[in-house]
Amino acid sequence: MTALVAPDPSRWREWAAMLEDFGGVDEMHGSGHWFLDGDPEPTEAGCATFVEVLRAMAPAAADGSRVASTFYWIAEGDGVPGEELVGFLNTRHELNEFLLEQGGHIGYSVRPSRRGEGHAGRALDRALTEAAVLGLRRVLVTCDDDNEPSARTIERNGGVLEDVRGDKRRYWISVG
Ligand SMILES: CC(C)(COP(=O)(O)OP(=O)(O)OC[C@H]1O[C@@H](n2cnc3c(N)ncnc32)[C@H](O)[C@@H]1OP(=O)(O)O)[C@@H](O)C(=O)NCCC(=O)NCCS
Repeated sequence: MTALVAPDPSRWREWAAMLEDFGGVDEMHGSGHWFLDGDPEPTEAGCATFVEVLRAMAPAAADGSRVASTFYWIAEGDGVPGEELVGFLNTRHELNEFLLEQGGHIGYSVRPSRRGEGHAGRALDRALTEAAVLGLRRVLVTCDDDNEPSARTIERNGGVLEDVRGDKRRYWISVG
């Protein structure tokens, strides 16, 4: 089982273990780490800062440079505290020019030690249900042209390839 949960500073130990597993931010797609000054610290204070930054970045920017967005942690089981956190997922509520070309509505990653267990596929399935609740009728999900696990994750969830722009495969998924 796989659940999407709201980022929660009280789960900082599970979050820190996940960060250590990733071993750096490069593959932490959907985490929102790019809004931090520097890399996240795997401590209670570091987690609190991280969650605070995500909450601050969730609304759209007044100048249109950032769209409204929901951040989730991917958890195993029902997602209750104590169960392992296995990844990150971010749903953008609309597309700007960059997101339409490259980023798409939804980004995600699964910690290295928990890959190949179907978490990404189930997390994307749950994110599509949430996207429908937001009122989206179809979502754009993109991945690097050579990222086979991500391409399969998208295709398994009904992704229809529109095109490849640069090194990005661009898929649309109908929801709702
Ligand atoms: C892409 C990623 C999220 C997949 O997570 P995951 O939980 O391992 O994915 P799943 O277990 O749900 O597997 C998804 C599909 O990829 C396949 N797959 C898994 N690992 C694979 C590999 N190394 N090579 C090829 N296919 C692979 C699985 O068999 C599955 O396909 P299937 O449903 O047809 O059987 C994970 O590899 C990751 O976090 N990568 C780094 C960040 C990233 O690339 N994020 C996506 C950005 S678009």
